[in-house]
Amino acid sequence: MSSTTHGAAEVLVASNRGPVSYVLDDAGGIAAKRGGGGLVSALSVVEDKLWVCSALSEGDREAVRRGVAEPGVRMLDIDAEVHADAYNGIANSVLWFVHHMLYQTPLEPAFGPEFRRQWASYEAYNRAFAEALAEEAAPGATVVVQDYHLALVPGMLRELRGDLRIGHFSHTPWAPVDYFRMLPDDIAEQVLRGMLGADRCAFLTRRWADAFTDCCTHLVGGTSGTRIGVHGLGADADFLRERAHRDDVEERLAALRAQIGADRKVIVRVDRTELSKNIVRGLQAYELLLESSPEWRERVVHVAFAYPSRQDLAVYRDYTDEVARVAGAINSRFGTEGWTPVVLHVKDDFARSLAAYRIADVALVNPIRDGMNLVAKEVPVVSDDGCVLVLSREAGAYEELAEDALTVNPYDVSGTSRALAEALAMPWDERAERTKRLAAAATALPPGAWFLGQLEALRQG
Ligand code: G6P
Repeated sequence: MSSTTHGAAEVLVASNRGPVSYVLDDAGGIAAKRGGGGLVSALSVVEDKLWVCSALSEGDREAVRRGVAEPGVRMLDIDAEVHADAYNGIANSVLWFVHHMLYQTPLEPAFGPEFRRQWASYEAYNRAFAEALAEEAAPGATVVVQDYHLALVPGMLRELRGDLRIGHFSHTPWAPVDYFRMLPDDIAEQVLRGMLGADRCAFLTRRWADAFTDCCTHLVGGTSGTRIGVHGLGADADFLRERAHRDDVEERLAALRAQIGADRKVIVRVDRTELSKNIVRGLQAYELLLESSPEWRERVVHVAFAYPSRQDLAVYRDYTDEVARVAGAINSRFGTEGWTPVVLHVKDDFARSLAAYRIADVALVNPIRDGMNLVAKEVPVVSDDGCVLVLSREAGAYEELAEDALTVNPYDVSGTSRALAEALAMPWDERAERTKRLAAAATALPPGAWFLGQLEALRQG
């Protein structure tokens, strides 16, 4: 494409998962479903933007083929196998595992021909995004590329359109250099150089930004003029407080209370079921609490919402099964006729998550590694009566919330169990004070300001 070919969009966002999905009905019709994630609310502050994303389902692909499109969204119908290789094979198996340091025996990677084949798909998938962005962007437009799915896009787009301001934002941690270099040398270099095609690469915390800079210094001789930034996405207090008091949340709150039983403390966790979230060790810590502090038996319930994610991949499916198995084992071991120690729900339901946030006495957020973790920030904002946050020191949110949380090493099951006991026993006034301070820290950078800050920093350079 020549640099004289261009589109009209002044602000463009690129991400694998877009703000809308399409469902086919039995009569052959197609309906749009708007997503409600954090990125959607953050980006709503800029009305006039184009969001380039990938078709993820048959419904999405059919919508693209029929020319059905929501205003401001361009969905790319990338070949389903190419997408599966790029998304499942490279993004969610390799890059997610590297940045979250999830490889362990027997999951250690063997980067052979299958990996190379999938990598070619990852390149093709990134190229499809770069070409669409190049086509749609107005001269001098600002483009913000999201996450590890699209690490090569900035470099590719820079070659097509030297006039654009390009930013890349990582929502994940970044691996330390000794771990990152597990990737084959040429691939590690391609990832870093792809990202360094951006004018600015930004991260959720200083820790991840420093790790990226370190990788660049050691593996490609520096960040070659690319600026590095930090924008710690916070919770959206206005939205959450309003949403958490609607009728559907009240209904679920009543149902949860009935399930939990009267006069019991509640330990809540809400996650996508995914290895980095460390749900199994969380359950083990709770089991240890029931074992070593019998006075808590019958007096506490662990409400665990673990919503299945990336189920095309066996390793994610197996983990989902393991979570259910461990929760079931705790219930068989300790449960009584009137008391279910673990209430596990797996059907994604945002209203029910908010209901659980409101009544939690303790929130358990214990990931092995996490870019930020918004649950840790949302709970204190909507809590009815104060809630103690038990927080992993490996979550990005730790940088902002450590002072008023009880912090844990996520691998230390005994330590986590002790933290749960301490949290349950914390006096009401101390817990209320801490919750107030946590809520203030958690909402310091609301989603809209988070996104505008990135645009402003990008344009200043
Ligand atoms: C993380 C990633 C996002 C991703 C989300 C959900 O937060 O940083 O890019 O969209 O997980 O995962 P999924 O694979 O379902 O899009």
